[in-house]
Amino acid sequence: MSAKVVLEVLSGCLADACDEVAGLGDITAKADTELCLSLPGPLDAVSLAKLRALRTVVAAYVAITFPVQRPRELLATQRINQLAETIATLRTSKPRPRPNFTSLRLSAAGADSPEMVRFLQELGEACGLPPEEEGDLLLRVRRAPAGWQVLLRITPRPLATRPWRSENYPGALNGTIAASIMRRMAVGEENSLLDLTCGTGTLLIEQLHLAAPKRCVGIDLNPAAIQIAQLHQRQAKRKGRIEWLCSDSTQIDIEGGFDRIVCNPPWGTLVGEHETNADLYAALLQKAADLAAPNALFGVLSHEVKRTQRVIADQNRWEQVGEQRYFQKGHHPRLFRLRLRGN
Ligand SMILES: C[S@@+](CC[C@H](N)C(=O)[O-])C[C@H]1O[C@@H](n2cnc3c(N)ncnc32)[C@H](O)[C@@H]1O
Repeated sequence: MSAKVVLEVLSGCLADACDEVAGLGDITAKADTELCLSLPGPLDAVSLAKLRALRTVVAAYVAITFPVQRPRELLATQRINQLAETIATLRTSKPRPRPNFTSLRLSAAGADSPEMVRFLQELGEACGLPPEEEGDLLLRVRRAPAGWQVLLRITPRPLATRPWRSENYPGALNGTIAASIMRRMAVGEENSLLDLTCGTGTLLIEQLHLAAPKRCVGIDLNPAAIQIAQLHQRQAKRKGRIEWLCSDSTQIDIEGGFDRIVCNPPWGTLVGEHETNADLYAALLQKAADLAAPNALFGVLSHEVKRTQRVIADQNRWEQVGEQRYFQKGHHPRLFRLRLRGN
């Protein structure tokens, strides 16, 4: 029987998520923040390993739809057993490391109702995981067109929570947005990549999960950010070298020739000042052009949408070739894709 999977994505990442999951199964439905996938066979270690490796997806769930009228009917022994068997597959599947689930948590409208509490209790007994408020095996129960659907998250933490990210930093980029951006920047082993405002290194570390560029440089003027970026890179344990430089990018003197450049500069509300950002953005575009190889691609991700549009319009070295909006927790960053104009 073909297993069904639901993938949660951030608004703006859908096209890249579709691209990433192509080949895993048939996409049977898409909404702005959700993808439904039908695997070619039952859930097994191979399909689970592939799903757990997805980078543009916030969280992945196995979805089981029961043809029932009311959630109370989920309490039937055969349904509890089916869910417990699926949980056993999630807990025991190789390759290692196996996810270490310790307890169940239910997220559903009416999760506190006596029947839902009983449902969680009975499922807990059947699968050997106690229900807990902070439980790491997350279940969602929701109405579906043909009954009620139970979603079981396949990892103890969301996929968007990168294991290498041990340190917090103001303005650090969400991992799934970074993964989506780096797919759009199409960086391969033959390219040389520069991040002019690398912060804690999210974009460059995500890139190493796709391909290790032949040259990869991250610059930030904050020494604390560079230290964290180095730590994060070590913890990510990916093949590929990154040169981390602590400097003002607009003043730096390094060898150029980069055919891929990215930057996620400060924006007024969280990092930096609105007034100085226009000058900084203009200087970054200028410096990027000085360090670029012919035909280079430049991705600028910013929340300062109008200001970025104005700065792009006021210069003539970069031509805009694309724009992508993202949405995450009240923020609306936008990726401007630019190409270096020929002489
Ligand atoms: C929004 S944060 C980047 C966050 C990064 N993408 C991450 O995930 O950690 C902007 C960064 O730009 C850096 N920055 C600001 N002005 C700079 C300059 N002139 N040269 C280099 N870095 C600069 C700040 O220190 C800050 O780390």
